[in-house]
Amino acid sequence: MTAPRKLFVKTYGCQMNVYDSERMTEALGGEGYVATDKADDADMILLNTCHIREKAAEKVYSELGRLRALKDINPDLKIGVAGCVAQAEGEEIMRRAPLVDLVVGPQSYHRLPAMDRAVRAGERALDTDFPLDDKFDTLTDRPKARRAPAAFLTVQEGCDKFCAFCVVPYTRGAEVSRPADRVLREARDLVEAGVVEITLLGQNVNAYHGHDGGLAGLIRDLAKIDGLERIRFTTSHPNDMDDALIAAHGDCEKLMPYLHLPVQSGSDRMLKAMNRKHTAEQYLKLVERIRAARPDLLLSSDFIVGFPGETDADFEATMDLIRAVEFGQAYSFKYSTRPGTPAAEKPQLPEGVMAERLARLQALLTQQQHAIQDGMVGRTVKVLFEKPGRIAGQMIGKSDYLHAVHAVAPAAAVGQVLPVRITSAGPNSLGGELIA
Ligand code: 5AD
Ligand code: SF4
Repeated sequence: MTAPRKLFVKTYGCQMNVYDSERMTEALGGEGYVATDKADDADMILLNTCHIREKAAEKVYSELGRLRALKDINPDLKIGVAGCVAQAEGEEIMRRAPLVDLVVGPQSYHRLPAMDRAVRAGERALDTDFPLDDKFDTLTDRPKARRAPAAFLTVQEGCDKFCAFCVVPYTRGAEVSRPADRVLREARDLVEAGVVEITLLGQNVNAYHGHDGGLAGLIRDLAKIDGLERIRFTTSHPNDMDDALIAAHGDCEKLMPYLHLPVQSGSDRMLKAMNRKHTAEQYLKLVERIRAARPDLLLSSDFIVGFPGETDADFEATMDLIRAVEFGQAYSFKYSTRPGTPAAEKPQLPEGVMAERLARLQALLTQQQHAIQDGMVGRTVKVLFEKPGRIAGQMIGKSDYLHAVHAVAPAAAVGQVLPVRITSAGPNSLGGELIA
């Protein structure tokens, strides 16, 4: 028997890429590859890339520069670029980086086995199609090996929203939902492999329409799976939060009280320019309705500062919205011009203005985040333990509210949801004691 080939996958960007990296590794498993976590040991290196902001996209070219040295040492090493940069700039990558053997987009990676064979035969391979055949039909069933207790499951891809700043509708294409029966089968397989928490993924996951009852219908069916204890979903658009999904937050016990609901800005003028198709007031009303269904729900959002045309008053409107909502968690970014998007044509704000606004916005968000974390002290929360911590005897897990929690617990706690009394709140995690 020949020794297995080794595959090193480096994942950038969002959770959907994390999921795709797993599926690519599984697809190449059929070609005799096993995963390695060491690049210098690999026969194939795949960079699964992100195109959402300029900085993310630039990382690919600097990483390729570093990989040149490895290819000099091992000329048989094959290098591939996958993900959204591959989709957006595939031909340019092939031109600019002769060391790249393979470029594959997010919708065509089920063809990796054939591409690998071509590459092994000395060819270079590029596939950034949006093929008619569904990659999920071609990909094999997921391996039955024991898994970590929390897993991602992509149920929806692409986006039809066309926010003026965003490349996703171009790199990931139109919205497509996987049929509910396939998702349920994959979920059952994951649970059989030891998974107790599933996060449903989609670029616009609450627009899911692979089930008659939409995302709420899918969640209710998933909740019937014995052994699956927690369900989450991300990322959602405010305009797709329908009544059924809001109701599910109120009465579906397995649906966790945490919702990532990006608003981007609190200024109606900016929301309009961003093509978000809702106002700040509508967002606030929606939050009120969701919180009426699930009062302890923790909200999270994405924010963009310095979108073209943003005035001080627009920025202050965002700060006001943040004060009104109180977010438990948030991601915030300076606006980054993306080629091919409508906003790319507009005059940019000075870097200094963006930096100053971002710092103020992040300070407010951090303050809110810490206040909510401090408020957890003394409460008892349920924690899904995932792995050992850095201190001997300690285990780390996630609370219902997605806070990282560490507590002294037996190794056997991994995979179990156990009550923990929170005793301390640090900047990034909570400490607690297991309740016997
Ligand atoms: N510049 C800055 N941030 C962006 N995002 C998307 N496109 C851009 C851009 N051009 C942010 C949005 C989105 C998150 C995934 O990334 O906040 O919700
Ligand atoms: Fe991008 Fe807007 Fe679609 Fe989110 S909803 S992926 S920000 S276009």
